[in-house]
Amino acid sequence: MASLLSVEHVSKEFHARGKKVLALNSLSMTVDESEFVTIVGPSGCGKSTLLNLIVGLLPISSGRILFRNRPINAINPEIGYVTQKDNLLPWRTLVENVEIALEIRGVEKSERRRSAEGLIRRVGLTGFEDHYPHELSGGMRQRANIIRTLIYDPELILMDEPFGPLDAQTRIILQDQLLKLWSSTKKTIIFITHDLVEAIALADRVVVLTSRPGRVKYTAQVPIVRPRDVFQIHESQEFRNTYERLWKELRPEVEMAEE
Ligand SMILES: Nc1ncnc2c1ncn2[C@@H]1O[C@H](COP(=O)(O)OP(=O)(O)O)[C@@H](O)[C@H]1O
Ligand SMILES: [Mg+2]
Repeated sequence: MASLLSVEHVSKEFHARGKKVLALNSLSMTVDESEFVTIVGPSGCGKSTLLNLIVGLLPISSGRILFRNRPINAINPEIGYVTQKDNLLPWRTLVENVEIALEIRGVEKSERRRSAEGLIRRVGLTGFEDHYPHELSGGMRQRANIIRTLIYDPELILMDEPFGPLDAQTRIILQDQLLKLWSSTKKTIIFITHDLVEAIALADRVVVLTSRPGRVKYTAQVPIVRPRDVFQIHESQEFRNTYERLWKELRPEVEMAEE
């Protein structure tokens, strides 16, 4: 089977104020259709840069990225992008924020309202449709941020540390909801996190990057059956084995990045 996404020897160099920074160095990885892949790596190793290249926001310095066997060279509307900052429009209510993408595509009001309300229900936000972003908690805003991407049904969804700023309990609740949404839609997800527990809990496969310039150092399949109980997952032996193997690879990279 051909991969949905194929990143082939991709390098990215930034030129800023007369200095060159090599952010990614010949990074290669593939992602299959319906796969949930998480990426971990030290801060500054090029994770966000990689997503920006995949979505077509930045030009690649060398190498290529294929989506359905076609090179990415402009912003691709089949790829959704959920960033850490929620970017909700403060003057729009929750439901109005969630339906923006359908509005842009010219979907009729009653139809887009129906889609938005369905997703709002699935993430437990019913009753908050008419609230403005400043009236919602951080966890609620991040749920809204995710469903406003799901609403236009992209094939591939990129998530850049979407639960980063949330407290530990809220994170686990959102992980659980994300897995339920994913298992019912079977979209392909690439999810970046600095939390190895989260990376294992969510993924079919975890990819470890080196410190900058980022390259793939190690990849591990997660042998934990689905559906998973993210509230208890850390108690299983498979989880502990996987964690140990991954941490052995990740730890020296994190330590190197700190020096
Ligand atoms: N637009 C840019 N211009 C110059 N340097 C950049 C730019 N974006 C990222 N970088 C640099 O590239 C490296 C990787 O950044 P980033 O992809 O944000 O890392 P991560 O998301 O893994 O923390 C960093 O050294 C960062 O300073
Ligand atoms: Mg980043």
